[in-house]
Amino acid sequence: MDLSSDLTTPVGKWFSGWLAGALLVCPGAFAQDTAIQQGFSLARELCSRCHVIGDYNRLGGIGNTPSFQWMVRSSDWRERFNSFYSRRPHPVFVRVPGYPRWSDTDPYYPPFEITPEKIKLIILYANTLKNS
Ligand code: HEC
Repeated sequence: MDLSSDLTTPVGKWFSGWLAGALLVCPGAFAQDTAIQQGFSLARELCSRCHVIGDYNRLGGIGNTPSFQWMVRSSDWRERFNSFYSRRPHPVFVRVPGYPRWSDTDPYYPPFEITPEKIKLIILYANTLKNS
């Protein structure tokens, strides 16, 4: 059998048709909403004790810790979020699997672990705070 002709076989055609159909039935907006929801849950769970993260805890957060809605106004906020775990004060209490421990200081805050995928979700959520 000639493998290079796979996509022109009935199954190949069915599959590419199915893919196109799946994209139509499941529009990006829906997937995006779910990701934003997940990002919000993560931010609520991991960041909201120190950061104000929008309406959820507008009067919360700790002292002069910058709020998410304030941070997203800077032009390089995505970069800052992407690397927040290496920026003070986070290295003391945040771990990213596969990255060395940055600080051996005793965490003054319960340590947590976060993956780059989860950070992306938080960024999607933070992006929704731009106008708040
Ligand atoms: C224990 C408190 C605490 C927690 C929890 C915390 N942060 Fe922060 N974060 C801070 C403080 C304090 C600053 C301000 C540091 C400064 O200005 O020197 C900060 C700053 C930042 C900055 C800006 C850093 C820079 O250098 O520009 C980002 C981005 C950030 N936090 C993201 C997050 C995210 C995302 C989470 C949750 C996954 C989180 N933080 C959890 C205390 C915290």
